[in-house]
Amino acid sequence: MSSTAVTGIGQLVTCDGTDPDLLGIRSNAALIVENGLIAWIGSAADTPAADAQIDVGRRVIIPGFVDSHSHLVFAGDRGTEFAARMTGQPYDGGGIGVTVAATRAASDDQLTRLLASRIDELRTLGTTTVEIKSGYGLTVADEVRTLQIARQFTTETTFLGAHVIPAEYAQDRAGYVDLVTGPMLQAAAPYARWIDVFCEPHSPHAFDVEEARRVLAAGAEAGLGLRVHGNQLGPGPGVQLAVELGAATVDHCTYLGDGDVDALAAVAEHTVATLLPGVEFCTRSPYPDAARLLAAGASIALATDCNPGTCYSSSMPWVISLAVRELGLTPAQALFAATAGSAKSLRRTDIGRLVLGNRADLTVLDAPSYLHLAYRPGVPIARALSLTASGEMPAE
Ligand code: NIG
Ligand code: FE
Repeated sequence: MSSTAVTGIGQLVTCDGTDPDLLGIRSNAALIVENGLIAWIGSAADTPAADAQIDVGRRVIIPGFVDSHSHLVFAGDRGTEFAARMTGQPYDGGGIGVTVAATRAASDDQLTRLLASRIDELRTLGTTTVEIKSGYGLTVADEVRTLQIARQFTTETTFLGAHVIPAEYAQDRAGYVDLVTGPMLQAAAPYARWIDVFCEPHSPHAFDVEEARRVLAAGAEAGLGLRVHGNQLGPGPGVQLAVELGAATVDHCTYLGDGDVDALAAVAEHTVATLLPGVEFCTRSPYPDAARLLAAGASIALATDCNPGTCYSSSMPWVISLAVRELGLTPAQALFAATAGSAKSLRRTDIGRLVLGNRADLTVLDAPSYLHLAYRPGVPIARALSLTASGEMPAE
């Protein structure tokens, strides 16, 4: 068995849930990585011998970011839609159809190459685990190939056939829900860990609560875990439905009533509220109130929602700076939500925290402290640390 010592760590932020602020910060620490897993953590002076050594030059080490919500398999461009929104056009989910057309027209090779370059991009920004949804295919064959392509890059794949009602089913909503909950689900399930639905009464293209309930129930029956897009464009039933069905997460949570916040707090052990402030930035919308959720006792996560419509950014550091500036989180709360919080939304305990036995998914910050993630918005200080062959990351 080969090992790598990671030394010269100026600040080790473990996010192990201990003081200070749940970040479990250690100074003068070192790590030993064996076969991609953390085999030892301790004081630098006691570092055991290892086959190889990486000195990170007094930089900060944090858990790699866990981006628990993305839509990265797509073709086409919607820059003009973004520009129109910046001058006042509201977002209602209608642009999704533009990406569906472009994605259907792209070859498997093109989609794979586009996805590979997006994965490279997010690693250079410090993300080491990403969830990827389908949802720009919306035929049986296109949803299946989207998931097959995503599966080459992550085990965290999500079937989102219920993204919008595609144009060809505009006059037959029930027929599309039958397809999504029947043949499409059966074909997609082998390539997905999760199912998601865009439950949003404020979008004519999305699904109402009864349609969403059918989709999630069918997904659960097929053995998939549940995720929900809810309460994005206005108050709605998404949060209550997610809580009722025991979903792992309800994402967006921009418009919450007191009842929604209380319901999320009551299920904080197993249902996470995932906040996506890049979407509010890129759609010129009001931000969710993360501080209110934490004060009530809810679990929160941060993710990018990287997609060609509502947030074409894969930058978790940027999301952290937005969360601190606009959602009421401290830098420590934002970093925890972007690592351990997002891991919880994926029901993973092997990532998001640097503790013995966990994956050695390490991100290095070219900074003296983790505060710089929020303090230096837009500056590329974070990157995933590539270990030498001896400490190579295990395949996802
Ligand atoms: O999370 N809510 C639906 N899906 C995406 C938007 C996708 C798009 O506009 O292409 C979201 O915001
Ligand atoms: Fe989304």
